[in-house]
Amino acid sequence: MQYGHFDLENKEYVITNPATPAPWANYLGDPEYGAMISNNAAGYSFVKSGANGRLSRFRFNSEMALPGRYIYIRDNDNADYWSASWQPVGKPLDQYKSECRHGTAYTVISAEYSGIKSETTYYVPYGKTYEVWRAKLTNSSDKERKLSVFGFIEFTNEPNYEQDQVNLQYTLFITRTSFEGGNRIIQHMNENTGFDENGYNGQERFFGMVGQPVTASCGSLSDFIGPYRTFSNPIAVENGKCSNVMNYNSNSCGALQSDITLAPGETKEFIFVLGERKDPEAAAILEEYKAAGKVDAEVKQLKDYWHGQLSNFRVDTPSDEFNNMINVWNAYQCFITFIWSRAASFVYCGLRNGYGYRDTVQDIQGIIHLDPEMAAEKIRFMLSAQVSNGGGLPLVKFDHNAGHETCPDENDEHSVYAKETGHPSYRADDALWLFPTIVKYLGESGNKGFLDEVITYAEEGGGKATVYEHLKNAIRFSMERLGSHDMPAGLHADWNDCLRLGAQGESTFVAFQLYYAMNVMRDMAKDKNDTDYIAYLDGAQKKLGDALEKCWDEDRFIRGIRDNGVIVGAKKDPEANMWLNPQSWSVISRFASDEQAEKAMNSVHDILNTPYGAKLLEPPYKYHHFKGALMQVFNLDTKENGGIFSQSQGWLILAESLLGHGDRAFEYFLESSPAAMNDKAEIRVMEPYVHGQFTESKASPYEGRSHVHWLTGTASTVMVGCVEGICGMRPDLGGLTIAPSIPAKWDGFRIEKNFRGKKLNIAVDNSAHVQSGVKEITLNGEKLTGNYVPADKLKDVNEIKVVLG
Ligand code: GLC
Repeated sequence: MQYGHFDLENKEYVITNPATPAPWANYLGDPEYGAMISNNAAGYSFVKSGANGRLSRFRFNSEMALPGRYIYIRDNDNADYWSASWQPVGKPLDQYKSECRHGTAYTVISAEYSGIKSETTYYVPYGKTYEVWRAKLTNSSDKERKLSVFGFIEFTNEPNYEQDQVNLQYTLFITRTSFEGGNRIIQHMNENTGFDENGYNGQERFFGMVGQPVTASCGSLSDFIGPYRTFSNPIAVENGKCSNVMNYNSNSCGALQSDITLAPGETKEFIFVLGERKDPEAAAILEEYKAAGKVDAEVKQLKDYWHGQLSNFRVDTPSDEFNNMINVWNAYQCFITFIWSRAASFVYCGLRNGYGYRDTVQDIQGIIHLDPEMAAEKIRFMLSAQVSNGGGLPLVKFDHNAGHETCPDENDEHSVYAKETGHPSYRADDALWLFPTIVKYLGESGNKGFLDEVITYAEEGGGKATVYEHLKNAIRFSMERLGSHDMPAGLHADWNDCLRLGAQGESTFVAFQLYYAMNVMRDMAKDKNDTDYIAYLDGAQKKLGDALEKCWDEDRFIRGIRDNGVIVGAKKDPEANMWLNPQSWSVISRFASDEQAEKAMNSVHDILNTPYGAKLLEPPYKYHHFKGALMQVFNLDTKENGGIFSQSQGWLILAESLLGHGDRAFEYFLESSPAAMNDKAEIRVMEPYVHGQFTESKASPYEGRSHVHWLTGTASTVMVGCVEGICGMRPDLGGLTIAPSIPAKWDGFRIEKNFRGKKLNIAVDNSAHVQSGVKEITLNGEKLTGNYVPADKLKDVNEIKVVLG
């Protein structure tokens, strides 16, 4: 079943049936002022931290009425009322027409009911730390209408999310609300804790309205909603009268009522603004919105910024799913994960107080082709969270202070770092993600000098070093922690949070990452004439390769060796005998021989593939697990226990593309693509424009249902798989290799790419109907050798013709 469609032109997803199987969300603002909104206006807001700056409430894991940014409309002639979003009032859908347009950092919800049209635009102005809801009401009937309009928000009593939820004997008694200046509710918190330089005390939030006069207001949640009622039938709306009661020692809300008359065809505009500001500033902000055209100008500014970002890479292929994801939604999601990490969604409550090292270094990869310098800033930050022993801090605190951090002690669960972050020890993979990320940045930017930039290490007394030295240290970290089979030791965990091979156990996934890292380093060392290091790498990589060779088991690579010597993922094992990631990474690392690569990838297709993507492992753990196989806690074919772990699909797409298997690469893209599930949205449940963390697989009665929306590494891996893999855009310092791997049935496709300030218009001709293989490239009419476009031959605007065959 389909609930909406993609609007590629406007870069929007349009929901025409509001009864979506789950709240389908969008992001507004950024963590300085964060806001999430569903297609029915449910959601919450916070300042700086989802955990410690929560402004409005949300009820996580709730199947019932959700708090939101609600606008109620009441017809005062017949007492009927509804909401400007279908929920929370939820009028019958044969009478209530609605459309939600989720766009790039704004959402527009339109409705029409009983001859009244409404259109509400929700956004956080660019660079600002408050939010705006602009509602336009139009009388589309032929008689005059008398209406009451109510804007409503449920405040938290305390910015700390947990305190607000559980410590009621305290939080209920620290706030009150007041109505000020004729147009705003002010929520005062901890009022008596001292005065600031302007004579104002405590913390204040505001919810105000301009555009129409405020007739009445209410600052008390219980007064607005009324006993034994919910958001769908607030007593104030039912009676058409806000009580003017303010909160004192109870729950706060902001509710502002305006009584208006609309002549036939007439439109009136309401602008609600919500934020955390002291009253005089709130008044000044509201004043600004009295200026005509301000909202439209601000929405345009948002669109210009985001559309500009997205226009740096555009594809035009025969696949709508591919175009919609790569040009808009996957790209936008990559920015969202880049900015928000795993901070706050409808699943993440905001309690994580930092960046996961591996998560963020991988997230960066998703935006490098769109904004390499934005990526570089974050790479520098992550390098400053690398310890001088080469390892990454497993969790990088939001207030990370390079050069002054404590770090994990490999033998001490009670270290200061462990206490602060909950991470007792280093993980085996963290710093190894720097290699693919930095190599992509160097290629996209051409900024060779980056390797010589000096960056401070994380810990007190750790000193500083060039990026090149940081990378050498990352390799040293792994090399100093090899297990008895000469592969990197498992330490606390590798990419898979649920796989504990034991501190001395060994992971083939990490071994492939290290093998890859050595290839990257060899290229850099050659460029620097670092001959001793090249000799070292040659020897170390040979030894690592010999170790990995022993991990080949007929038609697959094993997953690892536990510290008691028992193999994980051996073909003969009754459960979990086939794992996805070692197979794809054997190809990505360029370790696998041609024969191994073909066999391993065929095994993936035979054993792991499903209609919704490839499973992480098969069969899932049920009877034969070991203590470190933590995924056994999950239901079968769920999450790391045999679910389709979506992040891994990106590596699979990339691996098949690197082998030139365009049909397979695209098959995996489509299976796991949200857009391809648009007409089966009731199966996927999650937003059809957003990647999730995993999809339930065969053993689940809900095969195909996806979970953990928005904030997931899937966004970046799939983006890389598609851009570098399927589109075959592989820049390096000297230029651009073009090696598409596409479905043989495609006649061709086009790419528009901004590359180092120059424009590339790339037309790929596949009239030969092959899956890969470049026969000829011409650059501005000049025939090139091979499939490489040297950067120094580029003009400002370039026509590149690629013929496959
Ligand atoms: C989650 C974690 C990520 C981990 C993955 C696999 O997505 O955020 O760090 O690599 O699960 O366990």
